[in-house]
Amino acid sequence: MATHKLLLLPGDGIGPEIAGALKKVIAWFDARGGGGVYSIEEDVVGGAAYDRHGVAISDAAMALAQESDAVLFGAVGGPKWASVPYEVRPEAGLLRLRKDLGLFANLRPAICYPALAESSSLKREIVEGLDILIVRELTGGVYFGEPKEIIDLGNGQKRGIDTQIYDTYEIERIARVAFDLARTRSNKVASAEKHNVMKSGVLWKEVVTALHGRDYTDVKLEHILADNCAMQLVRAPKQFDVIVCDNLFGDILSDVAAMLTGSLGMLPSAALGAADPMTGRRKSMYEPVHGSAPDIAGTGAANPIAMIASFAMALRYSLGQVAEADLLEAAIAAALATGVRTRDIGGGEASVGTEVMTDAILAALERLSA
Ligand code: NAD
Ligand code: IPM
Ligand code: MN
Repeated sequence: MATHKLLLLPGDGIGPEIAGALKKVIAWFDARGGGGVYSIEEDVVGGAAYDRHGVAISDAAMALAQESDAVLFGAVGGPKWASVPYEVRPEAGLLRLRKDLGLFANLRPAICYPALAESSSLKREIVEGLDILIVRELTGGVYFGEPKEIIDLGNGQKRGIDTQIYDTYEIERIARVAFDLARTRSNKVASAEKHNVMKSGVLWKEVVTALHGRDYTDVKLEHILADNCAMQLVRAPKQFDVIVCDNLFGDILSDVAAMLTGSLGMLPSAALGAADPMTGRRKSMYEPVHGSAPDIAGTGAANPIAMIASFAMALRYSLGQVAEADLLEAAIAAALATGVRTRDIGGGEASVGTEVMTDAILAALERLSA
C-alpha cells in the first residue's frame, strides 16, 4: 500500500482551526484503509514562522515541502504582523512556496452545492447548479515581476512600482492546463485579460489564440476583458465553464466566484507544478482560497469546508485516489443537505462551529461508505 507523504502547514488565524478539522478527516481515511496510508509532517508558516524563526517559512519547511506528495496549507496573515518587514510578512511564506515549488497552475473551482443555492448573496436561479473553474496563473505576473520597489524621488514624493511580466511559455503552459481541463468538462474556455490597456494582455491574447489554433480547435474559446468578466460573473455566472487568467485577475475573480457559492469559506484550490518528465508526478499544494479571517479567529466559527474540499482535490490530483475524492465531495454535499450551517453560509441563530460541521462531514462519510 502506498504511503502518501503530506506536509501540513496550518499557518495563522483560523488556519490551525481548519487544519485541526482536516486532520480528523485524514484520520478517518487512514482508519478506513484501502487508498493508502498517510504520513503527516507539520510545520509553521506565515506569522507563526516569523514568531519562531524570524522568516515567513524556514528552509527546513521548504525542504519538507519539496519532498512531500502534497502540501496542505491553511491560511496566513493577520494584524499581529502588520508592521513586520515586507520581505518576512506572513504572505511571503505562501508566495515562496508557490514560486520555489514551481506551482504555476492554480485551479479554483466554484461549485454551488444544491443545499446552498439560497446562501449566496445572488438569487437562487443565478447560482443554482453553478460549476465553474478558474485557472489562475500563479508564479508570474505582477506578483513576482521586477522591479518591485518603493523609491524616494527626493522631492518629498515616493514612487511605488510593481511590474507585470509574462513570457510566451508562461502563458502557453497555463492556457494548456485550461484547455485540457475544459475537455474533461463542458469544453469551453474564457480567457480574461486586458489587451485594451496592457501589453502583457496583448501577448496573452495572441499566445492563447495561437495555441488554440494549433492544438485545441475542438474547445470553444472566448476572449473577454477582465473587468467585463467580473461583471458577467455576477450577472450570469453559468455562461462560464473554465476561465483562464493571470495571477492578479485570478486572485480577484476567484474571490468574486466564491460569493456565488455562498461564502469564501467554501472555495478550495489546487496549485500544481509541471509534470516530471520521468515520473509524471507534479509538485502540489492545496489550500482554501480564503485567508486567516482574523475577525473570527479563535471563536471556533470558521467554516472548514474549503480546507476539507482542498484535501479532496489533493486526493484527486496528487494522490491518485479519485474514488476517495468523489466520496469526500459527496460527504460535504450530504452534510450540507442535512441542514447544518456555519454562520458564513447562512446558519443564522442556528449556526454551528468548525467542530460540529466537521463531525457532520465525518458522519456523512460513515453513512456513504457503509
Ligand atoms: P479573509 O479571507 O481572511 O476574510 C474575508 C472575510 O471572509 C472575513 O469576514 C472572514 O471572516 C470571512 N471568512 C474567510 N474564511 C472563512 C471561513 N473559512 N469561514 C467563515 N468565514 C470566513 O480575507 P482578509 O480579511 O482580506 O485577509 C486577512 C488576512 O489573510 C490578510 O493578512 C491576508 O493577507 C491573508 N490572506 C491569506 C490567504 C492565504 O493564506 N491563502 C488568502 C487571502 C488572504
Ligand atoms: C490568495 C491570497 C494570496 C494571493 C495572498 C495571501 C498572497 O489572496 O491565495 O488568493 O494574493 O494570492
Ligand atoms: Mn486572494
